Formats: sequence, C-alpha cells, structure tokens
Amino acid sequence: MAPASRVKQESPRLSVLFSREQIAERVAQIGAQITADYRDETVVLIAVLKGASIFLSDLARAITLDCTFDFLAVQSYGAGKISSGEVRLLKDLDRSISGENVILVEDILDTGVTLTFLRKQLMQRNPKTFRIATLLDKPSRRQQKVEADYVGFTIPSEFVVGYGLDFGERYRNLPDICTLPQDAHEG
Ligand code: IMP
Ligand code: MG
Repeated sequence: MAPASRVKQESPRLSVLFSREQIAERVAQIGAQITADYRDETVVLIAVLKGASIFLSDLARAITLDCTFDFLAVQSYGAGKISSGEVRLLKDLDRSISGENVILVEDILDTGVTLTFLRKQLMQRNPKTFRIATLLDKPSRRQQKVEADYVGFTIPSEFVVGYGLDFGERYRNLPDICTLPQDAHEG
C-alpha cells in the first residue's frame, strides 16, 4: 500500500506535511531525550484529550522509564479558531500528581491559551517537576507566553490534521500530519 496516496485518495485536498516515517523518527528522538533527562526517575505522562492520544501512545513506547498515564480533557470557549481565552476542564486527572515528575503531552501549541490554563492548574498541585511535550508548535500564533520543553516540529501558521489532530472531529486517524487548505477550514 502506498501511504501518501491512500491519504490523497481519501481526501484529495490534503497534502502531507510530515509523513508517518518522519513522525516516528522524531517521536523516537523525543522519547530517548526524555529517557535520558529523567534517568532513574518515574514520570507521569498526562495527555490532553483527544488530540494528544496518538502522540502519547507512540511517545510512551519510546520512553524506557517507569511511567504512568493520566488524561485531561478541556473545552475552549469561543467559536471556531478564535480563542476567547477561556478554558474549562471537562475531565480531570484520576490521581494526585503531588511529588511526581509530570510531563504534559499536547498535540499542538497554538495561541498558548490551553497550555497556560493547564500549566497553572497543574502547578497548583505541587508536582516535583513539570514539563510540556508538544508534537507541533506554531510560535507565530502565540497570544500567551508559554513554551514547550520538548517540541516535535515547529510549523508556520497553517491548519493541520492527522495523527490525532482534527478538523470538526475528522481526520484524527490519518497516519500522516497533513495541511488542510485555508478555504476548507475558514468561514
Ligand atoms: P491553543 O490553546 O490556541 O494553544 O490551542 C490548542 C488547541 O487548538 C489544540 O489542542 C488543538 O485542539 C487546536 N488547534 C490549534 N491549531 C490546530 C491545527 O492546526 N489543527 C488542529 N487543531 C488545532
Ligand atoms: Mg482540537
């Protein structure tokens, strides 16, 4: 099976930005980096649902540390892509993170509104350490000052889907990260 052409066949308007091979290579590198940075420690990987679920699944298997998972879900107020700056927690963690090495795993860091909110929430719970791992970073779109400690790929201000990322809940299952043309996601 020809991977890129399968994607094209399903959605001719998508074009591959990062192939599954490129993603796998980068995720392996980040996993090795995290393993080295936390040697002899345990970590809690916290994924932000739903977008980060696929990144978490692959990243966790690239980390050879004693680690556990937890999940958060948030809702941003403000229609479409215009963030109002208000975020609400839809699903909280199952367990306390007090005294734990926490790595918050996100699909994409865009305006920074979501991660600014989550960082504040989680820091109040006294983790031993706190870091952010994001698959994608769009620094040119930042409205709030937040940086990730581990970044898969830095991208321009383009709308991307696949590998967990959605447009109206679609495309999360694409194995590659693809760009969606502007007219397809605006208006
Ligand atoms: P932020 O709060 O603006 O940083 O937005 C983060 C969230 O916006 C991500 O978790 C995504 O759900 C969504 N998002 C931002 N950019 C994109 C994109 O290019 N494709 C899909 N979702 C995106
Ligand atoms: Mg989303």
